[in-house]
This record gives sequence, structure tokens and C-alpha cells, in this order.
Amino acid sequence: MTVACMVDRSTTAGQLAGLLGTWRQSRPSYRALADRIRVLILDGRLPPGTRMPSERDLALALETSRTTVTAAYAALRESRFLSSRRGAPSRTTVPPSACVPVTGAITPPSEEERHLLDIAAAALTAPPGMADAVAAASQSLPAYLGGHGYTARGVPALCELVARRYSERGLPTSPDQILITGGALQAFALTLRTFVSPGDRVLVEHPTYPNALEAIRQVPARVVPVPLGRDGWDHAMFEATLRQSAPRLAYLMPDFHNPTGLLMGDAARERVAAALARTRTLAVVDETVLDLGLDVAADAMPRPLAAYAQRGVLVIGSTSKTFWGGLGVGWLRAPASLVSRVLSARAATDLGTSILSQLTAAELLVRQEPILAGRLSALRSQRAALVAALRTYLPDWRFDVPLGGLSLWCEFAAPVSSALAVLAGQEGVRLASGPKFGTDGAFERFVRLPYTLPEADLTTAVERVAKAYARLAADYPRGHDGRPVRADERSRHSRDLTPLVT
Ligand SMILES: Cc1ncc(COP(=O)(O)O)c(C=O)c1O
Repeated sequence: MTVACMVDRSTTAGQLAGLLGTWRQSRPSYRALADRIRVLILDGRLPPGTRMPSERDLALALETSRTTVTAAYAALRESRFLSSRRGAPSRTTVPPSACVPVTGAITPPSEEERHLLDIAAAALTAPPGMADAVAAASQSLPAYLGGHGYTARGVPALCELVARRYSERGLPTSPDQILITGGALQAFALTLRTFVSPGDRVLVEHPTYPNALEAIRQVPARVVPVPLGRDGWDHAMFEATLRQSAPRLAYLMPDFHNPTGLLMGDAARERVAAALARTRTLAVVDETVLDLGLDVAADAMPRPLAAYAQRGVLVIGSTSKTFWGGLGVGWLRAPASLVSRVLSARAATDLGTSILSQLTAAELLVRQEPILAGRLSALRSQRAALVAALRTYLPDWRFDVPLGGLSLWCEFAAPVSSALAVLAGQEGVRLASGPKFGTDGAFERFVRLPYTLPEADLTTAVERVAKAYARLAADYPRGHDGRPVRADERSRHSRDLTPLVT
């Protein structure tokens, strides 16, 4: 299990009271309070290492007796969800027994996994039109064959196309602000290599994209998670974390966040950008799934976050989700001075992205409209099929239907996500467990389900996951907060929740 850095993170009594919501649903009260706090820790909303408010302050904020809070803290200490040294404030922890530590990057399936239905990866097959684009690209290739073929910055025609796309979205960009890479992930790894040193802190949304987490860990930098709730970004927590832990870099996904699918609204972008500028924090904004707006038209999308804070924001993008991962083309967009610094770091890893891939990417961007329309229509049907299958086979699972992106972030009562991934494998499904998307064993009650397979496969996959879940949930007849899950709650949990724009 990886260890998140123990930054001086704290939650005030008022913030905690807000997170606790209506916690007084069972008796005795101290147990109800302890159970609710335990859920917040396991869900990552109170990340490990968070300093808890004093018993007195929390009792005041909750309008309950101090005895209740003292007993709840004692119960949490006993079950190792809180640790405290004499005289020091209590901090949250996740006991090893609460999770099977299955973390790390999401990798392509191994040979032994090839027979499984793969819903671990959120990736699509190549769209129709791919072969035509490759054919057109190979027509342009001869013009490059007389040179050495290394384009450290990228083929000029592609840099221009990518720059123009940003300008059209309200972020004026010149080609020298673009660096073409082998994908968004490579662009992120190069950015880390350039700006982040071992031991530095990197702020991430929690949950976040597992492979970005892995890239940060490999620096090795310290991960500073900021909880992302169902309602979206918690600005007070984000701003407090920027102030308290002074991260070297923040990694953010405002456009159909992976895995939650959340879309950050314009006002929130302005506020986030202002906080980054105030604290002079460099940010990487990952726009890999930007084009996959299923219920938001491209011209109704919020302005790029970088348009609000141009100086310290690096944007990474990709053709992997819009077109095909097999193309291996992404990019970095940043102020020209920062691009030059990243370029120097690149020389140690590779000397440029495949020319044929870049030319193909350029062809695809030019003919994007019909290709993307087909892709979005297929994704809408697949999303509907996944939602329907979940309602049929796993009616207790809760999820919000996102406005775009590639997956549903599902929540369930039993903290068994890592074990579920193992049992799902036995049922023939490759699944990425919730803890991959967080630090220190958080998200054991969550799983990401992409809707990237054909509809019939998605239904089969959910049916099999439901079988695996039934085997595990039988050991948890009660909801994880200690209460039995009542029938009326089941229907409330599985209702179609309003999509969020935050
Ligand atoms: C948010 C996010 N960033 C980056 C990537 C990787 O993109 P690329 O294939 O361009 O490296 C993915 C792929 O799933 C992703 O979801």
C-alpha cells in the first residue's frame, strides 16, 4: 500500500459537520457518529492524516453532548480509524484490515487476462474512418522521408491544428506553445520530470486517474489528495490545502473528470484559477476526455480552465479517447517558456512522436465532426445499456449519470471493492477496483464502470459483477455505516440522479 504524505491537513468542526450530514439515524448516538466518520474516511472524503477537530468543537458544531463525541472518537481509535499521541490532536488513518491494497496503474490486459470482458480500461476501439485517415496520412509521408524523422516539438501542421483548437475555445495559442507527445500521460510524466523533485507535494482530486497517481509516485513525489464529493469540487478544502501544504503542482480534470464524470462550471473554474494564482501553484489540467460531452454540446462547454490563469497552467490533451489509443498522440499546451523547459527534459526519454501517427492525428482532427458524432451516439447508447443493467442486477448501487466522459463511478454499501475485482476475474470480468483511484485504501465502497464495450457485453459484465458482489455482500448484511440497508433506501439510492454541473 502506498502512503500519502502526512501534510498538515485539517478539517474544522464546521466542515466536518457539513460532511456528516444527517448522521443521527441509529442508536446509540456515539456509534452512529463513529460509523459515519468511518465511512467518510473509507470514501476518501476525510483523507488519511487529516487532523480532526477537538471533541469540544465538534460537539458544539453538531449540537450534541461532548460525551457522545468522546465515545465516538474512542471507538474510532479502538478500530484504528483514528490515531493520536498523548496531547496531540487525533488524525484519521485507514487500518490495514479495512482494505485489500490493490492500487497502481491500470495496465493493458496480460496474456492470461485476454479472455476476460475488460471493463478495467475506459478505452474504445478505433472508429470507422481510421483506415482512411491512415491512408491520407501516408500520402503526405514522402515529404518527410528525406529528413531524419525526429520531431521533438511535433510536425508543424499538427502543432498548428492543435493550437487553433485552443484559440477557438477562447484560449489564444500559438504553435510554439504546443509540444506533441506520445499521449497525455507522457505529457504529464514529462511535466513531472521537469518541474517536480523527489519529496515534493502534488495535489490531486480524490478520486483521480490511477496512472497519473502512479506517475506522481514514481517521481517519487508525495500525493496530497483533496476530496471530490458527489456535489463536485470542495473549494474551501481545495484552497485550504493549497495554503497548508504548498504543493509544487496540482493535477486537475475539470472536463468530465475521470472517474466521476463531473464537469466544473465556469464560476468554479474562475475560483480554482484564482486560488492557484494566489498561491503561485503550477497546475496541469488534463483534458483527455474533453471531446466526449454526451449531454453538453461542444459550444456550450465552459471555457478552458487555463483561460482563467494562463501563466501557471499547463494543459494536456490527447487523441486517445476522441479517436483511438493505438495512435499514441497527445500534447502539452503551455506558455512557450515552459514548453521549452519540458522539451529539454524530453531528450532523455525520446526524440519525438511517430511521424505517421502525427500525420494521421492531423487528418483525424480535420475530419473530426462526423467521426465524433458517431462515437458520441454509440457512447450514449452504451451508457444507457450500462445504467439499465445496473438497475436490473445491482439495484442497490448508487451513481450519478455523468454529462460526458466514459464511465460511471458507482457506490455500494459493502467495503469490498478490491475483493470484488478479484472475484469478478473469477466470473470472467476484468475490473479496476475503487482504491486504484485513491490513496491509502480509500474508495473500497466504489468501483468505476466504463461504458466503452458494446451494449450486450456491458450487460453480461454487470450480470457477472453482480454475482461476484452477491458472494461478498452476503458477509455484510448491514450497510457499511452499521445499519441494515432498508428496501425504501434501496430504491432511493438507485434512482436516476440529476447530472451535476459544478
Ligand atoms: C484522464 C486521463 N488522462 C490521460 C489518459 C491517458 O491518455 P493517453 O493515452 O493520451 O496517454 C487517460 C486514459 O484513460 C485518461 O483517462
